[in-house]
Parts: sequence; C-alpha cells; structure tokens
Amino acid sequence: MSETGQEILAGGSAPASAGDPGFLWDFWYPALRSEAIRGRKLATAMLLEVPLVLGRTREGRAFAMRDACPHRGIPLSYGRFDGQAVECSYHGWKFDGCSARCTEIPSLSSQDKVKVERISAGHYPCAERDGYVWVYMSAPRQAGAGPGARLAETLPAAPELPKFSEKYKITHLECDLPSHIDHGIIGLMDPAHGPFVHQSWYWRSRRSIHEKAKQFEPIPNGFRMSKHEPSSNSAPYKILRYFSGAATTTMIDFVLPNMRFEEIRSGRLWFSSRATVTPVRRDLCRIDFVAAWNVLLPVTVFRMFAKPFLRQDQLTMIQQAEGLKHDPRLMLIDDADRPAKWYFALKAGLLESRRSGAPMVHPMSGPVTLHWRS
Ligand code: FES
Ligand SMILES: [Fe+2]
Repeated sequence: MSETGQEILAGGSAPASAGDPGFLWDFWYPALRSEAIRGRKLATAMLLEVPLVLGRTREGRAFAMRDACPHRGIPLSYGRFDGQAVECSYHGWKFDGCSARCTEIPSLSSQDKVKVERISAGHYPCAERDGYVWVYMSAPRQAGAGPGARLAETLPAAPELPKFSEKYKITHLECDLPSHIDHGIIGLMDPAHGPFVHQSWYWRSRRSIHEKAKQFEPIPNGFRMSKHEPSSNSAPYKILRYFSGAATTTMIDFVLPNMRFEEIRSGRLWFSSRATVTPVRRDLCRIDFVAAWNVLLPVTVFRMFAKPFLRQDQLTMIQQAEGLKHDPRLMLIDDADRPAKWYFALKAGLLESRRSGAPMVHPMSGPVTLHWRS
C-alpha cells in the first residue's frame, strides 16, 4: 500500500494471475436449489468451472458427480437415471449416484478383465441446507485425476443460516453477475455504493449520506462489523424498532470463501440473511440470497423490495464488466475499501497457510473502527 492509502488492484475480468482463476477450493458452495432435483430428473450446475450433474436417489439423498463420462467425456446429464445409478447415453456405462463408482459396462465380455469398480465419474460430497444443495469442491489433484476425494465424515459442516425461533418465513433470491468472483465479493461488501446504486424512497437517498464510524473485529476466516444500532436512515430498521418496541441491533459477518451474514435482532423479533457469491466460471458468478425472519412481513412483500435491490447490484456489475474488459488499473481506498483489502488479505493468508501448513495469518490484529460516508 502507498502512503496515500491507495492500493492498486489488478484490473480486468480476472484479478487473479493469468491461468489461475483464483478460486478457493476445499469449501462448500451452493450448487442449486433443492427443489431443482426431484424424482428421476437430473440437473446440471457449474462450480469453479467444474461441470456437475446432480440428482436425488430414491431414498431422497442428493448427489453430485462430474458431468463428464470418464469413457468419452459426454455429459452424464444426457443419460438416464433410475433412482440409484446414472446410465451414460453413449455406451451405457452405469455410475452409482452417491459414490460416482462405475457399476456396469455393458460391452464387457466374459474375456475382459477391466476393473469396473475402479472407474469413477468424480464424486463430490453434497449436503442440503436452507433449501440449497451444497457441494464440497475438493481441490483437483492433477489434471485427469478427478477430485481429491475426501471422506464425507472428515468434512466441515455445510453452512447454515442462523435462525432464532421455531417458526419463521424464509425466501430465496438469486442473480448472475458477469464478473470474476473477487469483483462479485468486493461488490457485496462495499459500503459506499448504497446511496448511488440503491436509491429508493424506502431505503435511502443520496441526500441521506452521512459520516459513519463502524467497529470491525476479526473472526475465524473473516471479519465482523460488530453488533451495533443500525444506521438511522434505513426504513426497514425503523419498522422493526416500531413493532418490537425494543432496541435494534445488527451484526454483519464476512466469512471465506464467499459468505456475508447479516443478523438483525429487536427484542424477540429477528431477521437473518446470507448472501453467497459463488464462482461459476472465472468470468461469471452468482449471488444466492436467503433470508429468514419472524416479523409479520409477508414473503411477497419482502421479495417486492428485495428483487429490485439485487437487480440494481446486477446492473451495476454488468456495466462494470464493460469497463473491466479493457483491463483498467483500479484502486482500493481507505477506509471504504478496507473490507475489500481484508478479503484479499484473508484469501492470500488462507492460501499461504494451506501451502506452508503454518497457521493462517489474519490481516486484522484486533478490533478497528472504520470511517466512511454513505
Ligand atoms: S462415453 Fe459414456 S459410456 Fe461411453
Ligand atoms: Fe448493493
């Protein structure tokens, strides 16, 4: 960083170095909504440039395999699924959904010695939470070796949205961003674009810009905007306070690889949301937004307000992608872009600790107050 507090950010559609798409492997990523795999239907998804075929067994278990037959590479999603195994459309090889192991090669004769069960289509562990199928994206070991399969028992638990009462409403929204994951993420945590991108009568206007001071603290693999009374210029918080009659607090966490959690509490009322930005390809990512609450707020009304909000972010990123095509030099400035700097430092710290085996160095040594106007 220079003395001016500016830092030059590599421009272009892929901030990572050429060739390396800059993905974080060995994490859970949401692949699709649970409802997308029903009955014997197969669905496809792409995560970190890995094509996946997903389905649900007769017993209801979600599974994911690499969507390429290990025989000749045709997508297995063109094949047939009988509730347990996927049959390739080309030569009929069968693969067990849950293990991705080959179970049958119809062309083999009694003379052949091929070890069928040694052939794998590439297994990816799956877990379902909050209406999403999460897939654990293990780092590829080397070209052609398939995923470095880890036993399901040794994996961390898939992320779950915190909820604070038995009964609640829940809703999901998503949108594609034509951006590299890093731009998607720093856009997600950017505090200064609100009054410009999200102008609306119910949220805030440009005129409402004022100076803010927010405290942040380090958390494992991320950072937290410490619990505080939310900004006075946002209508939703005012409404919450009105209904609960209690003080309202909000807390926002960013956690690697890609999650932003926001929690608003007001007496017994709560609102909890999570946005994840998932890398699909190096030039495409997707925001999955899930929110749950126990406030008397109909899902339809919430969606009516949330959809244009997400759309505004999407439009901005579409426009940004136009500019990034020409590989401009970019900057991160203090303090408004400090969270973005932390993100890059966390990512680098994690990769370094994985490489060296040493504990991860966190970019924050303790709580810090950031100042900006928004
Ligand atoms: S390509 Fe799939 S069985 Fe031959
Ligand atoms: Fe935004």
